[in-house]
Amino acid sequence: MGWKEFLVVPAAADRREALDLAERVRRPIGASLGKDRKVTIKTPFTELLGCRHPMQQAGMGGLASSDLAVAVARAGGLGMLSGAGGARALAAQLDTVPAGLAVGVNFLVPFLDRPAVEDAAARSPYVEFFWGSPDAGLVASVHEGGALAGWQVGSTEEAAAAADAGCDLIVAQGIEAGGHVRGTVGLMALVEEVRESVELPLVAAGGIGSGRAMAAALVAGADAVRIGTRFIAATECGAHHDYVDALIRSGADDTVLTTAFGLGWPDAPHRVLKSAVAAGQARGEAQSWSPDWPSTDTVGPIEAKALYAGQSVGSVRSRQAAAAIVEEIVLEAEAVLSRTREWRQGRGH
Ligand SMILES: Cc1cc2nc3c(=O)[nH]c(=O)nc-3n(C[C@H](O)[C@H](O)[C@H](O)COP(=O)(O)O)c2cc1C
Repeated sequence: MGWKEFLVVPAAADRREALDLAERVRRPIGASLGKDRKVTIKTPFTELLGCRHPMQQAGMGGLASSDLAVAVARAGGLGMLSGAGGARALAAQLDTVPAGLAVGVNFLVPFLDRPAVEDAAARSPYVEFFWGSPDAGLVASVHEGGALAGWQVGSTEEAAAAADAGCDLIVAQGIEAGGHVRGTVGLMALVEEVRESVELPLVAAGGIGSGRAMAAALVAGADAVRIGTRFIAATECGAHHDYVDALIRSGADDTVLTTAFGLGWPDAPHRVLKSAVAAGQARGEAQSWSPDWPSTDTVGPIEAKALYAGQSVGSVRSRQAAAAIVEEIVLEAEAVLSRTREWRQGRGH
């Protein structure tokens, strides 16, 4: 199925309204969100997960708090918790998620806690893994618990392995991504290749922070987008305010792929703000290269912590409620996709 079938193009008046809304929500916090809008972008992802929008909030360790995941799910996306803190911490988070909301759980394979995986599979609709070879046993255990299984991959080969392992969903992560970066290929080329070789619902991750970028990923063959960095500036996220301020000041060229913050997780490339590496180097012996990001209660030199950021960071312009971020991006994507239809009819500009 091509994207044109996914996009239920609104009638002219609705489209004007969508464009107006897209303009309005580009302004800071508190914009009107058009809560009762119809679904306009329907894809195999929205069908599979039962979401209103083809958008997933990235798993981001403890930054992906239940407040954030619930807010994203209420706004129509797929919210994600993290199982990285172990079974007890995850159970407490799952307790706060209202029944029936599209909130999944993300796990990092090197730090896997099996009881947490079992709990996630029993209590959430979607369980996902990253940073490890796709494992059919793990996928089967998720299915046995009653959840859908997904894998975030960094290459076409890994995507094929995830499909072979029985996954229901693939996330293709491009090198533009914030946080740990699995592969070596840019997002567009990766989506294109994975789309050719795998028929499963495909989510594009890395460097997507705007509706224009979302539209581009959908047109390139993705069924949804995954967004990390943009949600760090969500008011529901527990990131330190100096970290958020640094993101707001930064653009794509201010990020770097490095292995610097590798204490306890060596040789795992990650994308952070260049300024964080420079600040760490300036501290000499005093620096800790822990991969932990700064939360609201972190003390010490915040500027020298692992300030993860994707090339999407230029789209972070202010603190916003998660729902406002979802709506702003989706409305802009809808407006852009409607415009591409006009280009085909020679009416675009
Ligand atoms: C602060 C931060 C922490 C992350 N932690 C995880 C994680 O625990 N598990 C995971 O699968 N991906 C993690 N990622 C990567 C995201 O899943 C995703 O690929 C990335 O955020 C997409 O790029 P973007 O940040 O430009 O939106 C993290 C990303 C960030 C920014």
